[in-house]
Amino acid sequence: MKRILFAILCLVGVGAPAQKFDQLALTPPMGWNSWNKFASEVSERLIRETVDAMATNGMKSAGYQYINIDDSWQGERDSQGFIQPDAKRFPSGMKALADYVHSQGLKLGIYSDAGTKTCAGRPGSRGHEYQDAQTYARWGVDYLKYDWCDTEALSAEGAYLTMRNALFAAGRPMVFSICEWGNQNPWLWGAKIGHLWRTTGDIYPCFDCTQDHGTWKSSGILQILDLQQGLREYAGPGHWNDPDMLEVGNGMTVNEDRAHFSLWCMLAAPLIAGNDLRNMPKPILGILTNQDAIAVDQDALGIEGWRYSTDGVLETWFKPLTKDAWAMCVLNRSPRAQKIVFDWKTKTVADDLSKREAHFDTTTYTIRDVWTKKNLGTTRDPLNAEIPSHDVLMLWLDKM
Ligand code: GLA
Repeated sequence: MKRILFAILCLVGVGAPAQKFDQLALTPPMGWNSWNKFASEVSERLIRETVDAMATNGMKSAGYQYINIDDSWQGERDSQGFIQPDAKRFPSGMKALADYVHSQGLKLGIYSDAGTKTCAGRPGSRGHEYQDAQTYARWGVDYLKYDWCDTEALSAEGAYLTMRNALFAAGRPMVFSICEWGNQNPWLWGAKIGHLWRTTGDIYPCFDCTQDHGTWKSSGILQILDLQQGLREYAGPGHWNDPDMLEVGNGMTVNEDRAHFSLWCMLAAPLIAGNDLRNMPKPILGILTNQDAIAVDQDALGIEGWRYSTDGVLETWFKPLTKDAWAMCVLNRSPRAQKIVFDWKTKTVADDLSKREAHFDTTTYTIRDVWTKKNLGTTRDPLNAEIPSHDVLMLWLDKM
C-alpha cells in the first residue's frame, strides 16, 4: 500500500525535488519594467496603458512579452501575513491586472526582495517566501524580479535558493530574475537557481559616466559594458547575465540609445525596455524593434559576444550566430566621429568558448548593416566606414 501511495505521489509530482522551472527563457527575456522611468510611481493605470502600447505598437510582434511591475506596488501584509497590493495604486487588485495582461497576449512580472524591506521600503519577502510565491502564483504572475536590499549578512545563494524552491512549490512557471547586483558572484551559482542574474549595480541613463547618489553609485552604458568582462562563459539558454534594464528613450541621444541597444544585443542581454512606451518618438521605437538587432540578441545558440579587438577609442565585437552567421559591432567610445578600415582578408575570428571560427581569407560573407538595412557588399573588399560619436556600426554577416 505504502509503495502504491509513493508511486501515486511521484506521478503527480508531489515530493519532486525542488528545482528551477526549466524550459523558460531559452532566449534572453524581452519585456518592459517600470523602474528606470517611473521609479516608485507605479499604478494599475500605468500598467494597463503600457500593456495597450506594447500590444499595438509593434513591440509585441517584435518579441517583447513581459510587463514587469518593479518596486512600490506593495501595500501591507494582512493579519495572516499575505501581501496586499497598495490599494490606492492597484484598486482592482493583482489578479484582475494579470487577467488583463494575459488577455492582451502578454505576461505579468512582479518584484520583491530577499530582505525584510524592499529598496523602496515596502515589505520584502524574508520569512514569507512560500506564502508570497503562492500568492504570486494565485494572481497569475509569470516573472519575479527578486532584489537584494535589507539582507544584512544573508548568503545570496541560500536566499535565492529558498525563493526558487518556494516558486517551484507554488507550481506556476515563473521566470526568476536574480537582482543581487553581482556582489556574491551570482554567475557562479545562478544557473541552477534563476533564469537571469544582474551582474552589476544599477544602470544610469548616461553613455559614459558614474552617478553618485551619496551612499551608492549607478553606472552609465560604457561603465556597465566594461564590467561584463570575463562573464560570457556563464551565460546560455535558460541562464543569462543581466547587465540591467534598458535606458533607451530615457534621455540619451539617439546615437547613444542605438549603441546601448546594439551592445546589449551583442551581450545576449535580457531586453527589458525601461522607458515610457505610451509616448515614444518614432526613432526610439525603431531602435527597440529593430528586427536584426533583436535576432542577434535572441539567437538560439545563446552565445554572448566578446570584445575581439580594441584600437584606441574603437572596439570591435563579434557574436557567433546560428547558420554559420556572425554579428559584428564596432563601437566608437569617443566624443568625435571616427573612421574605420577593416580589411577582412587579413582577419580571422576564433572563439575559444563556442569553438566557432571565421576565416575571412578563405570564406566570404555577405554584409548587411543592421541599422541602415543596406547591403554593404561582401568581405572580399575592405570595409571603410565612419562611425559617429557614441555610436556603433552593427553588421550581420552571412556565409556565402
Ligand atoms: C534596486 C534594483 C533596481 C530597482 C530598485 C527598486 O536598486 O537594482 O533595479 O529594482 O532597487 O527599488
